[in-house]
Formats: sequence, C-alpha cells, structure tokens
Amino acid sequence: MLKVHDVSKSFGGLLVIDSFSMEVQPNQIVGIIGPNGAGKTTLFNIITGYLSPDRGTVTLDNHNITKKKPEKINRYGIARTFQLVKPFANMTVLENVMIGAFSHTSKTAEARRIAQEYVELVGLQNKANEKAGKLSLPERKQIELARALATEPKYLFLDEVFSGLNPTEIEEIIKLIHSIKELKKISFVVIEHNVRVISGISDKVYVLHHGVVIAEGTPEEVLTNQEVVAAYLGG
Ligand SMILES: Nc1ncnc2c1ncn2[C@@H]1O[C@H](COP(=O)(O)OP(=O)(O)O)[C@@H](O)[C@H]1O
Ligand SMILES: [Mg+2]
Repeated sequence: MLKVHDVSKSFGGLLVIDSFSMEVQPNQIVGIIGPNGAGKTTLFNIITGYLSPDRGTVTLDNHNITKKKPEKINRYGIARTFQLVKPFANMTVLENVMIGAFSHTSKTAEARRIAQEYVELVGLQNKANEKAGKLSLPERKQIELARALATEPKYLFLDEVFSGLNPTEIEEIIKLIHSIKELKKISFVVIEHNVRVISGISDKVYVLHHGVVIAEGTPEEVLTNQEVVAAYLGG
C-alpha cells in the first residue's frame, strides 16, 4: 500500500499543499480532482521524488520513500507520466518506450522485448518503428503511458492524461487503463479536472482545493458533498 501522510509544501510564502494525506491500495484507481493551481502536480512531484515536501512522509509497503530520488522511487515501483507529453521526437515509438525499460535492465535485447510488450499493450504495435514526433496527441499519450509502464511499476501516476483529447479518445484511454489494471494488477492515481471523467474511472476520489482535501470518498459521495458542489462545481 502507498501512504502519503500529512504532507505540506510551500513555495515562497505560498502554502500549496496543506497537510495532505492519502492511501492507495493495490489494484485500485484513485482520482484527484481540483481546479488549476490546486496543487495536484506539486503533489505528484513530491510523491515521485521531483520535489521535497517541507513536512510529512510517503511510504510504500512500509518503506519510507520520502525525499528519495526519482529513479530510486521508480525502482520501488512508482512511475508517472507528465502533464506535458514530450516523447523524444526523433526516436521511434519503440525506442522511447525502451527508455522506460532501461530503468531496470541494462541489456538492450531485454529492454526491446519489454518495450515491445508495452507498445503492444497500449495498441501502438503498428507504429512501433515510426518517429514519435510524427504521431498524434492521443498516440503520444499512449507512448508516454507505455514508457511509464515499461518501468514495471506497481503504482502509476497519470497527470492529466485526458487533457486535449476528444470524448471518443478519452473513452479509449479509460478502456486502456481498465484493461492494464486487470492484466497487470497495478494501481493508478489519476489527476483530472473533468469531474465526469474522474467519477467514471475512480474507485476513490480526493478533492483538492487550494492545497487542502475538502472531500474524499467514492465518486458518488464526493459529488454530492455540499462543500464540493459549492467550491468546485460552482453550484
Ligand atoms: N516550482 C514552483 N515554484 C513556485 N510556485 C509553484 C511551483 N510549482 C507550482 N507552483 C504554484 O503552486 C500552485 C499549485 O500548482 P500545481 O501543483 O501545478 O497545480 P495543479 O497541478 O493543480 O494545476 C500554483 O499556485 C503554482 O503557481
Ligand atoms: Mg497540474
């Protein structure tokens, strides 16, 4: 289990994450919603080692991983995608995904075999040898997903993986996440600001507002919470 306990973070005088706690069980999908600037990406950066919290702890299966380096946290079993998808444009799809595999093997043939598996899993096998820069936005998101998966995580953090996609493309990625979850038994933590998308996919939702969790629970519980409706849905 992944446990984030009482994490806080300020930038200058601005408190961006205020005593945040969360638990993610194995094989669970957890959603984090909140408007722009709520602190969602900062939270991901803290959990995945790109930023140090001022206070609080992150533990994974009883290992304290707080303030460890991103590569180390990745080896413990946490992978992420970035809000801005930027695969190496001049490398092929397969080569991009091999970068993920190299996190746990130094053998090229082995990395290629692992990468092939995940390129296929996300449905890009027909484009494996094309340059990543030529692919569409949804395809580049699939590359990013495959690259993160190729590190073979137990917990995968997705930062706004649905943004910029149309409803059909969103539906495809949701299906993909569900099938990866069933096949690989991994957990997902998904940042999203579309409430409908997040309730469709999550077992549990946290609502972040100015760095504070104002509600947590099942999508039904959260979306009927008066504070959430007032603060976030503008009701
Ligand atoms: N490196 C940084 N230095 C200073 N302020 C930052 C930094 N990163 C984020 N912030 C600020 O922290 C707040 C939360 O940002 P962010 O975590 O990116 O929100 P979200 O992902 O929910 O949109 C914003 O006010 C943002 O301007
Ligand atoms: Mg963000």
